[in-house]
Amino acid sequence: MRAVMHQLLTDGIAPELTAVDRLFERELESDLACVNQLTRYVSRFRGKMLRPTLVLLCGKATGTLTPAHITVATVVEMVHMATLVHDDVLDEADMRRRGATINHLKGNEAAVMLGDYLISHSYHLCSSLNDQFAARVISKTTNQVCEGELLQLSNRDNLELDEETYITIISRKTASLIAASCYLGARLSGADETTCRKLEKFGLSLGIAFQIQDDILDLIGDPSEVGKTLGIDVEKRKLTLPIIHFLRSAPPEHQDLCRSLLQENGAAERIRNLLIPSDSIAYAKDRSKRLVERAKQCIADLPDSESKQTLLMMAEYTVTRNQ
Ligand code: IPE
Ligand code: IPE
Ligand code: MG
Ligand code: MG
Repeated sequence: MRAVMHQLLTDGIAPELTAVDRLFERELESDLACVNQLTRYVSRFRGKMLRPTLVLLCGKATGTLTPAHITVATVVEMVHMATLVHDDVLDEADMRRRGATINHLKGNEAAVMLGDYLISHSYHLCSSLNDQFAARVISKTTNQVCEGELLQLSNRDNLELDEETYITIISRKTASLIAASCYLGARLSGADETTCRKLEKFGLSLGIAFQIQDDILDLIGDPSEVGKTLGIDVEKRKLTLPIIHFLRSAPPEHQDLCRSLLQENGAAERIRNLLIPSDSIAYAKDRSKRLVERAKQCIADLPDSESKQTLLMMAEYTVTRNQ
């Protein structure tokens, strides 16, 4: 998040986010220096903290925050970090959060093990809660995240990928964890099931929109602004919404050119130049904006509060962000 935007969105939960940071570091501490050296690296480069922020804001918008919110907010960030560390291995990415990736610095073996270490600690931390409910929700969610990544892998090189399958992929790999963060935030505040489900739906639509925007940034973003390696989706022949749209609606000769570029290595720049003048980026942006509107509708009847207003702002930010 840009500094000002970040401040605005996290103002009301700053002490809780600091507690999440501390718990994150404490949970990962080992008696082995070589382990601490790796985990310190992960702790040093902080991201936007979207998922913990959602646990806390959804908790506040529906009731009162408890120590369990801090635990679950830390758990979802740890799960997220584990998926990023592994995802960077799959994507052969060099840069993440403006720093070098673990795979780039220490190699794939260390990155695979560090991802396992993070996911293992997330379950360990989650099992410290009295109630096993959150652990069941989190583990069901990580099943979905893996299914989404596996479905994406099985569609690599599939130039016929349709929009519906793309939405299934991103719903599972990305939106499921965002939805679970919102659901658990409300649930831990004692909100009734109907309210919890509304927040879950809010998170699901927001999460889908968030990944669409991420995919747009992967195509046309500025790496120094976004802070991670871009152009990877095209390089790995993983079709995303703008490309899916382009391959069904651009003039036939442009479609053919795009198909042949997708089969070359190092063609991200040329694909980007083909996509920019088309209406495919606008199409993807419009779809993500409509999802944000749907997300906002899901929480429209929550009682008004500062946290609710921040959630609404956050929904907007999802599709306007440049990083
Ligand atoms: C990156 O997530 C992976 C996606 C699901 C698109 P974020 O954009 O939330 O990453 P950080 O935590 O801010 O680095
Ligand atoms: C991966 O999607 C999302 C995860 C669930 C890890 P991306 O591959 O688009 O994420 P980035 O762009 O590397 O952050
Ligand atoms: Mg990636
Ligand atoms: Mg991406």
